[in-house]
Amino acid sequence: MEKKYVTKAHYLLHGGDYNPDQWLDYPEILEQDLELMEEASANAFSVGIFAWSTLEPEEGTYQFEWLDKILDDLAAKGSKVLLATPSGARPAWLSQKYPEVLRVNERRQKMLHGGRHNHCFTSPVYREKTQKMNRLLAERYKDHPALLMWHVSNEYSGDCHCDLCQEAFRDWLKERYHHHLAELNHAWWGPFWSHTFSDWSQIESPSPIGESAVHGLNLDWHRFVTHQTIDFYRNEIAPLREVTPDVPVTTNFMADGNDLKPFQSLDYSKFAKEVDVISWDAYPAWHNDWESTAELAMKVGFIDDLYRSLKNQPFLLLESTPSGVNWHPVNKAKRPGMHQLSAMQMVAHGADSIMYFQWRKSRGSSEKFHGAVVDHDGDKENRVFQDVKQVGETLAGLAEVAGSLRPAKVALVYDWENNWALNHAQGYSRETKRYPQTVQEHYRPFWEQDIPVDVITKEHDFSKYEVVILPMLYLMDEATIDRITDYVEQGGTVVTTYISGIVDEHDLAYLGGWPAALQEVFGVSPLETDTYYPNDRNAVTYQDKTYEVNDYATILSLTGAEVLGNYEADFYAGTRAVTRHSYGKGQAYFIGARLEADFQRDFYAALIEERAIESVLPVTHGRGVSVQGRQVDEGTYIVFLMNFAEEKQTVVIEAEVTDYQTKESISGEVSLQPYEVKIVSHVKK
Ligand code: GAL
Repeated sequence: MEKKYVTKAHYLLHGGDYNPDQWLDYPEILEQDLELMEEASANAFSVGIFAWSTLEPEEGTYQFEWLDKILDDLAAKGSKVLLATPSGARPAWLSQKYPEVLRVNERRQKMLHGGRHNHCFTSPVYREKTQKMNRLLAERYKDHPALLMWHVSNEYSGDCHCDLCQEAFRDWLKERYHHHLAELNHAWWGPFWSHTFSDWSQIESPSPIGESAVHGLNLDWHRFVTHQTIDFYRNEIAPLREVTPDVPVTTNFMADGNDLKPFQSLDYSKFAKEVDVISWDAYPAWHNDWESTAELAMKVGFIDDLYRSLKNQPFLLLESTPSGVNWHPVNKAKRPGMHQLSAMQMVAHGADSIMYFQWRKSRGSSEKFHGAVVDHDGDKENRVFQDVKQVGETLAGLAEVAGSLRPAKVALVYDWENNWALNHAQGYSRETKRYPQTVQEHYRPFWEQDIPVDVITKEHDFSKYEVVILPMLYLMDEATIDRITDYVEQGGTVVTTYISGIVDEHDLAYLGGWPAALQEVFGVSPLETDTYYPNDRNAVTYQDKTYEVNDYATILSLTGAEVLGNYEADFYAGTRAVTRHSYGKGQAYFIGARLEADFQRDFYAALIEERAIESVLPVTHGRGVSVQGRQVDEGTYIVFLMNFAEEKQTVVIEAEVTDYQTKESISGEVSLQPYEVKIVSHVKK
C-alpha cells in the first residue's frame, strides 16, 4: 500500500517553534535546551521564523554563525530542522530605509513599523530582500544534515491597499477580463448605483470591504489577495526550489476564531496547490464555558479533515500549545490528559507531526506567558513538560502511522469563494448565514458515528465517493453544476440544502429560476426562502418525527422528486421540505430548511445504513467518544478510541483488536476515563 511520506521522514515529528535567537546571550539556556529536547523525545524544530534582525542586523551585514551552531547542535542530537524564511517580521532598518514595504490599510493609512505579518505583498523591494535572504539560507544550509523542510514565512494573512497593490490589482483584473472593461462592468453589474467604469485607472480596492456595495468587486478583491499572497510566496520559494529542489516546502495555515472555522481571508484550496505539505496551527479553546469538549473536538476534526483532503495526504500540525495560549479571552490550562488526547486526535485525523508554539517561553514581550514546553522555571518535572514528554514517547512508538491515509466514502464540500460571496450578500439574515458552521453541522453526525469523511473542494474528483454533500453552496458556477450532474448520473448520491445554486462565479443571480440542470437532478425548484427571526419557530416532519426549523426555510415546488418531509406551520404548512430524486443511476436529496442537529443525525444515519458505509472499527458508544483511525497497511488500521466527554465512557468493540501498547488482544467492553485515549490496531477482514 502506498504511503505518502510528506516530510520524507519515516516517523512522526515532535517538536516546535524554536527561537534560539532570543537566547544568544544565555549560552547555558541553549545548552539546557538540547538536554531537554532529548528528554521530551523531540526531534524536529522550526528555526529562525522571526530571526531576520539577528541574521541581518544591518543592511547587507549577515550573521549566520549562531545559526550554524544551532543547526550543528541539533543535528548532533539527531534532530531535524524546518528552516524558516524570516519574512513574517522584518528588521527596523528595512522599514526605515524602504517605507514601501509598510502595509497600507483599507482606509489608505500607512502603517508604522512594528508588530509582524504586516508587509506589502507587492513591494518589489520586499520581494527582492526576502528572496535574497532565502537564497543565502538555501545556499548555506543546502547540504546540512539537519535540514528537513522549508518553513516559509509565517501564517500569511492580510491585505495591503498601497498604490503598488492597486496597480497590481488592476493588472490582475485586466487578465481576468481579457482586457475588456465591458466584460468587467457586466460581471460587476456596473450600472447598479452608477458603478460602470470607463477606464481601468478608476478601479480601486474596496474601502472598506464591509461597506462596499459592488459584490463582484469584493469577490475579485478576495481572489486577488489570495493570488498576490501566493505570488509573493512563489517569489520567496524560487531560490529554495532552485538550490534545494528535493527539500519539501510548507507554510503554516490557520483556523479562524474561537469557533474554529477554516481560515477565511485566503483561499487555501488555491494555496494548497503551491505547497508540498499542508500544515496548520491549531489553538482550540479547550475547556471553554460555551460548548462541550466533544463539540470543540468535532470542530477540530473538521478542520483536520479539510486540510488533509486538500492534498489527500498527511498534514503537519506545526503549532499547538502544550497548555494555554496568551490570546484567548481566557487562557486556560489544559486539564490532565487533554494534551495527550488532543495530540492523538490530530494524528488520528492525518497529522504526521505534533509541534508546538513554542519550545521555550520567551522572557519578555507579548508572548512571555504563552504556553511552552519549557517554562521560565526550566524544570523538566513540571506538569506541562511531563505531558509533552508523554506525547513524545507515544509518537515514537507510532512510527508506522507516518505517511498513512484515511480512506473515506463520504465527502463534504467546503468552498472559500462561497463563504465570501455569502457573507457579502445583503439579504437573508446578517447574523445567521453561518456557512462554515453549517458545513460543520453536516460533518457532526459522521464524526459522532466514527465515519471517515473527506472535506473537499468543488474541484475535487467526486467519483471516488458514495455520497457528496454540498451544504449551502450559494455560489455554484456552471462547471460545478455539470460536475454534480455527471456524478449523480453515474450513480453518485448528492445532498444539498437551502440557499444553494443561487449565484454564478461573478456573484450574479441565475435568471429564469433555479438552474434547469439542478432542477432536473434534484427534481425540485426552490421558489422562495423565508428568513426567521431568532424566536420564529416552525417544524418539519420527516419519517414520523418532528424537527425544529431555525433561520431558513425554502419553499419548494416539485419537478419530479419524492417527498420525505413536510413543513408543519405557516403559510407553507403541508408543503415539502425534504426531498429525494432518482436521476440517472444516482440519487439527489434536497434539504429545504435549517434543521436541528437531530435531523442531520437521523437523516445521515439512514443514508449510512442504506449505503452500508462503515466506520473505521465496529463500535458502539455514547456521545463524546470519537473513534478515528489511519490505514497503515492493506488491511491494518491504527485506531484511536478517544473520550472527549467529562465522564467515564464505555466503548463496545465488536471486533478483535490489539492494544497498541500492551499488544494484548481485546474485544467487547472497554472503559475510557475522561480525556483518556486508547490506541489499538485492527485488521479488517
Ligand atoms: C501563531 C503564530 C506564532 C505564535 C502563536 C501564539 O499564530 O504563528 O508565532 O504567535 O500564534 O499562539
